[in-house]
Amino acid sequence: MMNQRALRNKIRHATHSDEHETVTHLLEANPLSKRARDQVLKDARLLVTHCRADKTSSGTLDAFLLEFGLSNAEGVALMCLAEALLRVPDALTADRLIAEKIQAGNWNLHRGKSESLFVNASTWGLMLTGQLVMLDREITQNTDHWVRRLTATLGEPVIRAAVMQAMKIMGGQYVLGRTIAEGLRRGHKNNDVETRFSFDMLGEGARTEASAAQYLQAYGDAIDEIGNHSSADPSVFSANGVSVKLSALHPRYYFAQHSAVMLELLPRIKRLCMQAKHYNIGLSIDAEEAYRLDISLDIFQALAKDTDLSHWQGLGFVLQAYQKRAPNIAKWLISLAKDTNRRIMVRLVKGAYWDAEIKHAQELGLDSYPVFTRKAHTDLSYQYCAGILLDAQDHIYPQFATHNAYTATMILKLAGEREFEFQRLHGMGHILYDQLKTQQHKTAGQQSLAIRVYAPIGSHRDLLPYLVRRLLENGANSSFVNRFLDHQTPVEELLGDTKEQVTQSYPYQHKMIVNPDQIFLAAGENRKNALGLDLDSPIETECLLRTIKQTGSLLSHPIVDGQDVRGDLHPAYNPANQRELIGYDSKVDQTSIVTALESAHRTQPVWNALGHHARADLLDRVADLIERDCPRLIGVIAIEGGRTLPDGLSEVREAIDFCRYYSLQARSLPAQGLQGLGVFLCISPWNFPLAIFVGQIAAIAFTGSTGTAQIINRQLAARSGGPIPFIAETGGQNCMIVDSTALPEQVVDDVIASAFQSAGQRCSALRVLFIQTDIADNTLEMLAGAMASLKAGDPRLLCSDLGPVIDNGARTELQKHIDRMHKEATFIASVALEDQCADGSFIPPHVFEIRSLDQLTEEVFGPVLHVIRYSSDQLGEVIQQINDTGYGLTLGIHSRIQAFTETVFRNTIAGNTY
Ligand code: FAD
Ligand code: 2OP
Repeated sequence: MMNQRALRNKIRHATHSDEHETVTHLLEANPLSKRARDQVLKDARLLVTHCRADKTSSGTLDAFLLEFGLSNAEGVALMCLAEALLRVPDALTADRLIAEKIQAGNWNLHRGKSESLFVNASTWGLMLTGQLVMLDREITQNTDHWVRRLTATLGEPVIRAAVMQAMKIMGGQYVLGRTIAEGLRRGHKNNDVETRFSFDMLGEGARTEASAAQYLQAYGDAIDEIGNHSSADPSVFSANGVSVKLSALHPRYYFAQHSAVMLELLPRIKRLCMQAKHYNIGLSIDAEEAYRLDISLDIFQALAKDTDLSHWQGLGFVLQAYQKRAPNIAKWLISLAKDTNRRIMVRLVKGAYWDAEIKHAQELGLDSYPVFTRKAHTDLSYQYCAGILLDAQDHIYPQFATHNAYTATMILKLAGEREFEFQRLHGMGHILYDQLKTQQHKTAGQQSLAIRVYAPIGSHRDLLPYLVRRLLENGANSSFVNRFLDHQTPVEELLGDTKEQVTQSYPYQHKMIVNPDQIFLAAGENRKNALGLDLDSPIETECLLRTIKQTGSLLSHPIVDGQDVRGDLHPAYNPANQRELIGYDSKVDQTSIVTALESAHRTQPVWNALGHHARADLLDRVADLIERDCPRLIGVIAIEGGRTLPDGLSEVREAIDFCRYYSLQARSLPAQGLQGLGVFLCISPWNFPLAIFVGQIAAIAFTGSTGTAQIINRQLAARSGGPIPFIAETGGQNCMIVDSTALPEQVVDDVIASAFQSAGQRCSALRVLFIQTDIADNTLEMLAGAMASLKAGDPRLLCSDLGPVIDNGARTELQKHIDRMHKEATFIASVALEDQCADGSFIPPHVFEIRSLDQLTEEVFGPVLHVIRYSSDQLGEVIQQINDTGYGLTLGIHSRIQAFTETVFRNTIAGNTY
């Protein structure tokens, strides 16, 4: 077997490996013979038949989700409600949300269809409200009227309480208790005595140090409690344990923050491991998003190698089979166990973040997906990994987590007499395992199956992300559990042989899930998506950082008529460190401008004669060249513009998109008969040195401040001669409106990205946040906490979240505004600057609360966010304030109520051309 370092390297290279090749390899290495597979299929089908005949299945959540899956409008409406309702603090907004979602369904369709009492009770409850809505279709178009109408009939508190209760019941199905003590009590009451538990303290994705500290405390207390309740059983494998999400323990659990994570998060998880060791119980580290996987291996390796944790066999890893990296990680874990002389617990799962992984990779334009695109590939990978984990009995304690009858049966066949345990989630899979146990008992000589229940503990407040994953998992019709108990789905259709399913289509990657660079093409738009870089990949970032380091001295000068024009050279300094000379520039003079214009006029007829199809070819070529030089350009943007690496990357990608987009537009025009518009003068701004410059040349003309645009416009109007068309994109007072259905974590992420990325020096940056009073305190507290963990620094470093503003002039102006706000507004938060920022033109991001938009007389072009509270009945005034500014460049909305979103869009001028 390869050594660990080589395996680690292989894992890194496998992140975006070719799916077809990976699957081909897995097929060749399939651990089961055809005969064994036939037997598995037969046994699994029989198992499902028994489960369907099991009368205890009615009254369960499985039955509920069978009726209300993601494939019908009512199911989707319920899931939307479940996701949002319980966090809405004010009655009016809650009623609006309920009204809208209930209207979306035809609840009558579900009446009496399920044998489950639980399903029917819910259907009746929802139908009751649904029928009230049906009373008058016209009234239901207007949510306010609807709510008023309800008050007049049943009274909205009754409806609200009923729907809230329904959602609590739904969410509560997945939580074993609010505390460990309650969980232990309920767990033992509802399961066999030999059932094991892994308790999960709900909470993940901490945005602030304060919540990370709370979650850490909760885990610490939980371990004490579990340990103190442990039986005298000396085996760590059969003892109850805990499952920990590392994202709960640190607000910056990202690859970019590698050193901080190893310095701060590692000791926290080690502390929990030491506690678990003390009680000799297991601690498993849950698997989360693919972009956190590599850094999770570093943490796991450090724990495994830590001699303070030796002689403890409870350290657990969760392996997601849907990762293309999974087979290599399985081998790496075995090698790590051998090296550290321990037996590692490995929970094999398929993976709970599939939809998010696909979207994430598409958004970033990665060259492929980190996960498989067909479910059968994940199943194949699961089989393969199960085989190698089981073969390493001395080094691995395998834990197979699944609710799929085929997968469970396959594991039984593969394992034979070897040691392992099954795992299921609380609220799911109990019928399957009850039946499996019954079958096993009937088979003479079979020992009892070891089953562990993953048991979430906590309050509804922390349940949401977990609940959403469960609802997606249960509601998706590709999931086994979705049709498991559906008598309409024949078992032959529900269960098939994995190998055959894989080989049914060729090449193996899903035809509808094309690689991220092809997504526009697949959607019928004839252009490639700009290729991104994976900034969570150690391999890709290493290359990028190497190129950036090599960025030499910059020399910028005008190019006129294809010739370099070198005038007087002026030194240029790094905005992040004004002591660092980065090169020289020379400015264009009057003569060169005239020469450039004359040359453009001379050449225009030739250029025009080329035709727009040939010009489109050139744009495509430019796009390809920019794509090729992406790392170099990111380096230049960082050193000259002070943009961080992610900002630089999105700028380069935007430039590529511009070229391809305009090339596509040009191609859509008729080949003959169209003339170019003539010579254009483009005035591009400094804040997007590449993207807007390229975008303007590829299509458009002036981007800059509104004031400057107005001056140009007046001068053009005042001159004699024919009119000159003037196209301008200017700044604005960009707002975001957030109502109380919004998820604060998402709001905080988006606010930080929109207000502070590119040092707030984007014309589209968020300047004013309107937030509903009912959630303002909590959200602003979270925002302040999240800002406290942001780092400003040299933009060429991966760990820098924030760069400087463009120069000292900008800094002085911004500082004046901040000083004024300190006097006239309420200070909410700012980012502390470290010493390394002293020589740069840094402005720490600030947040102030103001009373109304009137307090802002002009656009503040930097990282300063203004917050205005509004109450739920003041939306009209908010819209009025926004419209009164006269600006309308961008607008953001955070709400789960479609009608709210539409009202804002219909009534604001943002985004409209006028
Ligand atoms: P199946 O229906 O057989 O499989 C569904 C799974 O297939 C999906 O969840 C997805 O992973 C995969 N899939 C679906 N469509 C596609 C597609 N088009 N291409 C590729 N793959 C696809 N998940 C985590 O991520 N981290 C954890 O720490 C974790 N811990 C768990 C602990 C326990 C005890 C259990 C039972 C589950 C845990 N899970 C975890 C969740 C687990 O990932 C899902 O429950 C599991 O994927 C469902 O698999 P299944 O065999 O039950 O169902
Ligand atoms: C999840 O949180 C169970 O860890 C898994 O979805």
